[in-house]
Amino acid sequence: MAKLCVRSLGVSIDGYAAGPEQDLRNPLGVGGVQLMEWFFQTRVWRQIHGQEGGESGVDNDIAAHGFAGIGAWIIGRNMFGPVRGPWPDESWRGWWGEEPPYHTPVFVLTHHARAALPMAGGTVFHFVTAGIHAALEAARAAAGDRDVRLGGGVATLQAYLRAGLIDELGVAVRPVLLGSGEHLWNGVDLRALGYRVDRSVSGERATHVFMSRSG
Ligand SMILES: NC(=O)c1ccc[n+]([C@@H]2O[C@H](COP(=O)([O-])OP(=O)(O)OC[C@H]3O[C@@H](n4cnc5c(N)ncnc54)[C@H](OP(=O)(O)O)[C@@H]3O)[C@@H](O)[C@H]2O)c1
Repeated sequence: MAKLCVRSLGVSIDGYAAGPEQDLRNPLGVGGVQLMEWFFQTRVWRQIHGQEGGESGVDNDIAAHGFAGIGAWIIGRNMFGPVRGPWPDESWRGWWGEEPPYHTPVFVLTHHARAALPMAGGTVFHFVTAGIHAALEAARAAAGDRDVRLGGGVATLQAYLRAGLIDELGVAVRPVLLGSGEHLWNGVDLRALGYRVDRSVSGERATHVFMSRSG
């Protein structure tokens, strides 16, 4: 069965995976952009944005691994965008432009139904109102023999963690302090949930920590 994987989730040294007050100018919340600065310098990031160059190295290898063998994604509605409550219209199409970097079905958890949204390059956003188990079932069916990547954000990740559904948990720990925002580990006891740290690797701008769950 397809594994549910979190890969390279950016987290500050004080445990935040997003800054506060997300809006159009701050997709990751105020200060949250610092969590992704390891990624912005990589060749993988440049290629996603149709640019040449970028750095090769550990961070780049891990960024590339993040997309390898993934057949579907699950994300929360706030990762999809800053629109809250009932959709006022269909104009919001994600942060990523007309060709998002997923190239697979992406299941967006929300309480507000919306028609599926096909984008260029094979990404199709499906809006799931039936909860985390239904989203995982749909994502696994779509992924076939590949794995499912859980992109975030924090509320969605915590819900899957607490339900014991995440098989592999990879974080990119950044040497920055956010002080406020969405705290990744708040009320989550990873040891009690059965996780162990398998390895860690020092990249150029982040320390990559790989965890998995036994049993
Ligand atoms: N550090 C990283 O690598 C990383 C990665 C991804 C995202 N982020 C950041 O994380 C932040 C978003 O995190 P977040 O915790 O605010 O939100 P989130 O997890 O992205 O989305 C939460 C929302 O998803 C919907 N939802 C979640 N579970 C649901 C369920 N079981 N049933 C129905 N709807 C459900 C609800 O939206 P509605 O009720 O409004 O429909 C809920 O308010 C953003 O700033 C984003 O940029 C960071």
